[in-house]
Amino acid sequence: MTTILSCRDLVVEYPTADGPLRAVDRVSLDVERGQTLALVGESGCGKSTLARAIMGLASVKSGSIKLEGEELTGLSQRELRKYRPAIQMVFQNPYGSLNPRLSVGRIIEEPMMVQNIGTQAERRKRVLDLLDRVGLTSEAAGQYPHQFSGGQRQRIAIARALALNPKLIVCDEPVSALDVSVQAQVLNLLVELQRDLGVSYLFISHDLAVVRHIAHATAVMYLGRIAARSNSRDFWKSPAHPYVRALKDATPSMAAIRDGTPGQPILEGEIPSALNPPAGCRFSTRCRYVVDVCRQTEPHLRQVTDQSWVACHRVSVGANGAAVLPESELIAD
Ligand SMILES: Nc1ncnc2c1ncn2[C@@H]1O[C@H](COP(=O)(O)OP(=O)(O)OP(=O)(O)O)[C@@H](O)[C@H]1O
Ligand code: SF4
Ligand SMILES: [Mg+2]
Repeated sequence: MTTILSCRDLVVEYPTADGPLRAVDRVSLDVERGQTLALVGESGCGKSTLARAIMGLASVKSGSIKLEGEELTGLSQRELRKYRPAIQMVFQNPYGSLNPRLSVGRIIEEPMMVQNIGTQAERRKRVLDLLDRVGLTSEAAGQYPHQFSGGQRQRIAIARALALNPKLIVCDEPVSALDVSVQAQVLNLLVELQRDLGVSYLFISHDLAVVRHIAHATAVMYLGRIAARSNSRDFWKSPAHPYVRALKDATPSMAAIRDGTPGQPILEGEIPSALNPPAGCRFSTRCRYVVDVCRQTEPHLRQVTDQSWVACHRVSVGANGAAVLPESELIAD
């Protein structure tokens, strides 16, 4: 497998009136060629900040971001230009991310114009090819974003992202604003494009149900840190980390979503502030398995099975080789 993107010990901070807010704290992850790495976690855990850092839009305090082995951190904006076509982004809001004053054809053509690619006739032809690839007709080129539904707008955003033949598309909650039925169509399109073009995705979502069927590997973030990651599609069958388990319990099944059955209550307890994270394990204030050591020592990611890594003191490997948590949950204080 070839690694397209690799982050190592990445730290991103925002200056705030109360001091630096560390939104991404020593995060390491890899995206393989032609595969999808899902990045999952609750609101505010640092997903979009990580995406912005990869796009060169947030300044990196320390650590490394490599695209096919080339270091991107520390490059000037001018030097970054060379790599820009290789990494594209699709945003959550298909309403805000398309310029309402430009025709759809022009929106999709724009990245090629900026990069001085092809003649105008060649670019126009490419626009029609791209529209066809994302399931829109050629008439769409002359129309404007407001004439399209949310799902169609996201198709336009995907066509624009594909225009420069990127190696990686960072998708930041690309279907969260869409109806459930439309979500599945856009997800299917992304999977189809990956199969045909070999593009890699870093797919960000707060919703496990969304990533479950498209991710080859999954990383779960909590308060700026990676709590667990797995290279297996079976990750969700045996979620050994207490946070992953809680997230999964709070996620309705696809069938329940279709039937409109509500899921379990979401995770209890407030997410602590990233300005002042808990000592030891960051999840300790909400964890049903917490013991004293959790509040004192930060658990580091360690490999527990062939395919999975968890940052938790209490996960062990069971007799069948699977990662397990103790039978008894709460240890009384
Ligand atoms: N420009 C900023 N200045 C200061 N703090 C910020 C800024 N942008 C984000 N943050 C903080 O950084 C942390 C991570 O935010 P981020 O937007 O990366 O989270 P997220 O996982 O993408 O959340 P969501 O699911 O809501 O999109 C949060 O505590 C947030 O309040
Ligand atoms: S280290 Fe402790 S507090 Fe953290 S997830 Fe594991 S059991 Fe829970
Ligand atoms: Mg976000």
